Amino acid sequence: MNYFLPIHNILRWAVLLFGLWTVVTAITAVASKRNYTGKDNKASLLFMIFCDIQLLIGLVLYFNNSWFDALKTNAKAVMTDSAQRFFAVEHALMMIIAWLLVHIGRSMVKRADNDAKKNKRSLIFFGLALLLILAMIPWPFRTGIGRQWFPQF
Ligand code: HEM
Repeated sequence: MNYFLPIHNILRWAVLLFGLWTVVTAITAVASKRNYTGKDNKASLLFMIFCDIQLLIGLVLYFNNSWFDALKTNAKAVMTDSAQRFFAVEHALMMIIAWLLVHIGRSMVKRADNDAKKNKRSLIFFGLALLLILAMIPWPFRTGIGRQWFPQF
C-alpha cells in the first residue's frame, strides 16, 4: 500500500511526457498538413497506457484513503476541508474526465476517414486532456494541496 502513492507520483511524469509528445506532434501535423503516421498513433497509445495505469493506482489510493470512510458517514466534513475535497472530488473527477477524453479521442481518431481529420481530432482531444491533467496535478506551489515534485521513499 505504501508504494502506491510514490508510484502514482512518479508516473505523472510519464503521463506528461507522452501527453506532451502526443500534443506537440499533433500541432506540427496540423500546422504542416502532413499525413497521420504510425508514430502519431504510438505516441497517443503510450499516453493512453500511462493514463490507464494512473487511473488504476488512483482508484486504489482513493478507496484506501483515510477520508474515504468519512466520505460515506460524514461527507460534509470532507467537503469543508479544501485539501480533502480536492483529492476526493476535484482531482479524481477531473482526471477521470481527462482519461475519458484520451479514450474517446483514440476511437475518434481511428474512425476519422482522412489524415487531416485524424490530426485535428488528435490535437483537440489529447490537447484538452493534457490541459486538464496539468490543471489538476497537486503541484508543489499550490497552496493547501501541494505535493512534492518527486516521491520521497
Ligand atoms: C493522469 C492522471 C493522474 C495524474 C497525473 C495524477 C497525479 C497525482 C499526483 C502527482 C499526486 C500526488 C502524489 C504525492 O502525494 O506524492 C496524486 C495524488 C492522488 N491521486 Fe492522482 N493522478 C491522476 C489520476 C488520478 C485518479 C483517476 C484518481 C482517482 C480515481 C486519483 C487519485 C488520487 C488520490 C486519492 C491522491 C492522494 C492520495 C493521498 O494523499 O493519500 N488520481 N495524483
